[in-house]
Amino acid sequence: MPSVFGLFSLRGRTALVTGGTRGIGEALAVALAEAGSDIILVQRDTSNTSTQEKIEELGQKAYIYTADLGSASEVASLVPRVLQDGHGIDILVNCAGIQRRHPAHQFPDNDWNEVIQVNLSTVFTLCRDVGAHMLTREPKDGHRGSIINIASLVSFQGGITVPAYASAKGGIAQLTKAFSNEWASKVINVNAIAPGYIATDMNEALIKNEERAASILARIPAGRWGVPDDFKGSIIFLASRASLYVSGEILTVDGAGTRTCYRGSWLCAARQLDPDVLPKTYALPQISSNARADSSSGQSGGISRSISTWHIMQ
Ligand SMILES: NC(=O)c1ccc[n+]([C@@H]2O[C@H](COP(=O)([O-])OP(=O)(O)OC[C@H]3O[C@@H](n4cnc5c(N)ncnc54)[C@H](OP(=O)(O)O)[C@@H]3O)[C@@H](O)[C@H]2O)c1
Repeated sequence: MPSVFGLFSLRGRTALVTGGTRGIGEALAVALAEAGSDIILVQRDTSNTSTQEKIEELGQKAYIYTADLGSASEVASLVPRVLQDGHGIDILVNCAGIQRRHPAHQFPDNDWNEVIQVNLSTVFTLCRDVGAHMLTREPKDGHRGSIINIASLVSFQGGITVPAYASAKGGIAQLTKAFSNEWASKVINVNAIAPGYIATDMNEALIKNEERAASILARIPAGRWGVPDDFKGSIIFLASRASLYVSGEILTVDGAGTRTCYRGSWLCAARQLDPDVLPKTYALPQISSNARADSSSGQSGGISRSISTWHIMQ
């Protein structure tokens, strides 16, 4: 058994990462490189080289492969191209994702199809193709590979105005467990990370809506929104031999936010909807009635402290 540091080392490994141009995926790719892995970045195009440069500054190799993850045919040809070039893949991180918001009764087919393709079907294809490759390889130090999918809190809940995203992310949780059940015996670990509310471009609309941002913050016991670097520890754990006996797990990284799901928080989020789509029986509370319990300053003090924490993060 290697030392504790050895357990977490990714020296000599290669990770294929989608969504690495920015946000959470960029932090994941850089963290994997810091732990010693070379990185294959899958991007729409080669115009963004900032993550590649950060990885190379760490002394690791970084290759960019282009694919539009909304195109089933481009996704199908991706892994064969990478393998044909002589790369092996030890770690797969499916992080790319998109969000589309509309009330459920107006949700367009195009947006449904696009979200399901990028956030679910592409992940299935890449898990299948990279997993098939891993199965052909001899284990290194008792481990054939790690697959980490990025899920969401809406893997467990339905969300509001995001039926396609919630369906895709619910599917990610099931797909992770399904692949894990078949491959754990082959020493391929398949796990997922479910982020809470993270300050990235994806949440621009929520962040700009001060009232909504504050109501979300009030439900996060850690007292702040997450940032991409919050995932560095969990990705290294799940990508390395440190998690050899962990598979089929959905690891929430959310500042304890899932532990505060209660009816009031649903109503707090629902306040953003057209009141006409809400059941008439729900009297929507004032935002202060949903504030995080705050023993030092009381409920409304908790909200104002939350808002100022948010402004500091900006
Ligand atoms: N932020 C959160 O609060 C949160 C919460 C739960 C789960 N998540 C999940 O975490 C993952 C990363 O989210 P994020 O917040 O970091 O998002 P982000 O900042 O919006 O970044 C999205 C990434 O996905 C890539 N991408 C999107 N569509 C693509 C396509 N068709 N082809 C190739 N690449 C594509 C983007 O590439 P470009 O730069 O080329 O657009 C970018 O690298 C997603 O799966 C998301 O669902 C996020």
